[in-house]
Amino acid sequence: MNKLYVMDAEDCLNRLPENTFQTVYIDPPYNTQSKKFEYHDHYDDWEDFITSKIRKTRQVMQETGVLFVSIDDNKLIELRLICNEVFGKDNFLGMFITRQTTRSNAKHINTIHEYIIAYAKNKRKAPAFEIKRLEIPFYADKLLPLMAEIKKEHKQNGIASATQLLKKRLKEFEKIEYFSFLKNYSIVDENGEICFATDLSTPNGEPCELYIEEIMLHLPALKSRGWSSKEKFIKLFNENKLLFKQGRPYEKHLLSESKDNAMSILNFYSRQGKHDLERLDLGNVFSTAKPVEMIKYLIKISQISHNDKILDFFAGSGTTAQAVLECNQEDNGQREFVLCQVQEEIKNNLYAIEYLSGLGYQSNIAEIIKLRLARLQYFIQFTYEIE
Ligand SMILES: C[S@@+](CC[C@H](N)C(=O)[O-])C[C@H]1O[C@@H](n2cnc3c(N)ncnc32)[C@H](O)[C@@H]1O
Repeated sequence: MNKLYVMDAEDCLNRLPENTFQTVYIDPPYNTQSKKFEYHDHYDDWEDFITSKIRKTRQVMQETGVLFVSIDDNKLIELRLICNEVFGKDNFLGMFITRQTTRSNAKHINTIHEYIIAYAKNKRKAPAFEIKRLEIPFYADKLLPLMAEIKKEHKQNGIASATQLLKKRLKEFEKIEYFSFLKNYSIVDENGEICFATDLSTPNGEPCELYIEEIMLHLPALKSRGWSSKEKFIKLFNENKLLFKQGRPYEKHLLSESKDNAMSILNFYSRQGKHDLERLDLGNVFSTAKPVEMIKYLIKISQISHNDKILDFFAGSGTTAQAVLECNQEDNGQREFVLCQVQEEIKNNLYAIEYLSGLGYQSNIAEIIKLRLARLQYFIQFTYEIE
């Protein structure tokens, strides 16, 4: 069940069952001392404030679980040390850099980025951070038009012509950074899909013929190689991933399903978080909302199933809930969010206070989440409990 706890994170963490969450994303107050935010950001004992929560977080994560924490230069080192102590240095997975719209305007180096650090409860059990390229806007922006163009050519003029066109396009892609992986994708299949193929013979098998009754496939013995297992052929057949060239079977790898490992520089701009709120007619109610797409990305790379439970105990405007709901919408998943937001009066934002009160909401930050979730319910069907 989706849940919003309106209470101190510490109390919430004490109530949550152990070994439950696959992904925990938090965006704590960075202790900037700034007086511009809707929440208080001045702590004398920030390290203590965070440490006890990080300890409890580890307990509520499942064995395969991953913790992501947003942070800036101000507290990066302290946070790393705390997490190293709680999770063990070996469970550090790496660190992302994300784009900031605002500049630090420092005299020496103008900081325009911040970080997301990632720790596993148990690095050996954590999933590989893989994601379909088409789910990354950076790739999708170039790959989707290419796929559409080839499909159209296939439909109008057939496979040979589509393959010719693909060859020409691949040559153009050679020059584009991060697209060198494309050079293998030189085949157009019978549906007009772009793919590459790998041989299904194996060097270490006995040469012998293979007859698979279930799928009516007969493969003669090769001179010096064996064939992949019967089970593999059946599985590929059922997934429509068998491809034949000159009578020989190959495994088909579709471009639409190609995956990539997460890269350390993320192309998400902090400004996008504000746009996400604007789309719900909530622009200007919360100034430090993170981009929905960024949290969706973190959920997807760390997921083990479409039923994962996702926790954010510094919920702010509730971006993580929206990310979870959108992930579910995209793949018919059953993920659940648990958010926690302390009962904190909105500061420094008279507009937000008046806007909320005009709609019958109170003037604390948790009410922003409630309003955001109510707006999302116009587009997405879901329920949640409040405690
Ligand atoms: C940087 S904001 C999070 C913004 C959020 N990621 C978003 O996209 O809207 C940090 C939030 O943590 C909340 N917070 C601070 N101390 C807390 C505590 N002890 N328990 C729960 N929430 C807390 C603040 O009120 C603030 O809303």
